[in-house]
Amino acid sequence: MSQKLSSSYEYIALAPGRVNLLGEHVDYNEGIVLPVAIDRKVKLSFQPLDEPVIHLRALDFDQTVSISIEHLDAQCDTGGHPLPAFARYPAGVAWALQQAGLEVRGMQAEYTSNVPIAAGLSSSAAVEVAFAISWQALGDWTIPRMQLAKLCQFAENEYIGVQSGLMDQFASLFGVKNHVLCFDTRSLAWEPIALPADTVIIIADSQVRRTLAGSAYNERRSACQQALDILKSHLLKINALRDVLPDDFSQYAHYLPPVVRKRAQHVVEECTRVELAANYLKQGNILAFGQLMFDCHKSLRDLYEVSCPELDALVEIASQQPGCLGARLTGAGFGGCTVNLVKEEYANDFTTRLSAEYTAKTGKDAQVYLCYAAAGASVEGFERL
Ligand code: GLA
Repeated sequence: MSQKLSSSYEYIALAPGRVNLLGEHVDYNEGIVLPVAIDRKVKLSFQPLDEPVIHLRALDFDQTVSISIEHLDAQCDTGGHPLPAFARYPAGVAWALQQAGLEVRGMQAEYTSNVPIAAGLSSSAAVEVAFAISWQALGDWTIPRMQLAKLCQFAENEYIGVQSGLMDQFASLFGVKNHVLCFDTRSLAWEPIALPADTVIIIADSQVRRTLAGSAYNERRSACQQALDILKSHLLKINALRDVLPDDFSQYAHYLPPVVRKRAQHVVEECTRVELAANYLKQGNILAFGQLMFDCHKSLRDLYEVSCPELDALVEIASQQPGCLGARLTGAGFGGCTVNLVKEEYANDFTTRLSAEYTAKTGKDAQVYLCYAAAGASVEGFERL
């Protein structure tokens, strides 16, 4: 639930979370992804300050912090205490903008969000993007949105320490209402593809929260790098796991250590699935698209090993419901949410039954809700954006 913002600020920035329909753990392997910006977002009210400081109130945590924009490297507040976890995202963005030579003005701000935290819906990317577009609005500079996305990713990689790809920040900045974004993380080309009119996206939050997600995520990423380094000595033309064709993978996979081999197999097959899936979506073949979502979940469960019993239960239950076209865990995994494609006429029954059967099976309460593909981030009432 987001909180009510004070109306005394001059500007408001909005930045959505995202749900990824297909293409999981491929964005750091130069693959194609199919995310959707969602109708859950960060709301940030702000105004400039003349002093070089960020006064920040996080309504959802009922906390305030003041950060000097002249000493961001230290990751401390103005009293010399380590930054609270929530403040590292805005501070990281300010730091990344400065690294790129862009002016970061002092700012008074408060923010709230209804993107659930650590649930695979990119709550942190939404915070990063909200602050990035706010500083752009206050500064004497404008850069292309893709550049902003990359700077937010840089903050996440270098300041926060999670080696994430570009998908989340991209989706938050480039969302298109009622459309899936088909984003090539190598060329950075993208196109919106319409969601079929009679299909809805339903998110099911397992309420299991990721633990150690950062380190497990970074481990997956280095396994991919290891696979690439080994395969490169046999497949001279590859630059990323995206370039490995399934037949070539079968031929050379035995050179990889067993765990690394499983991780790489997921990536190689997922890249193939996404290309097929994007075409199915364009042709309106949502049945075939949904099947690939089920296949993706199995692969994340068995090969990439980022699922958990609760997410598996949600997918299993969903797969037995009438009108369910596809279901799988979404985002990095290790808990969080599943994404379900459901025929609109079955949406209500699906939601009720999935919640009830999940509780019966796991003893936990899931939050199951419809979600709509939304537009990307904006600053309201500010003409330059
Ligand atoms: C997280 C990362 C993304 C992406 C997904 C997995 O959301 O931030 O860059 O790697 O996990 O697909």
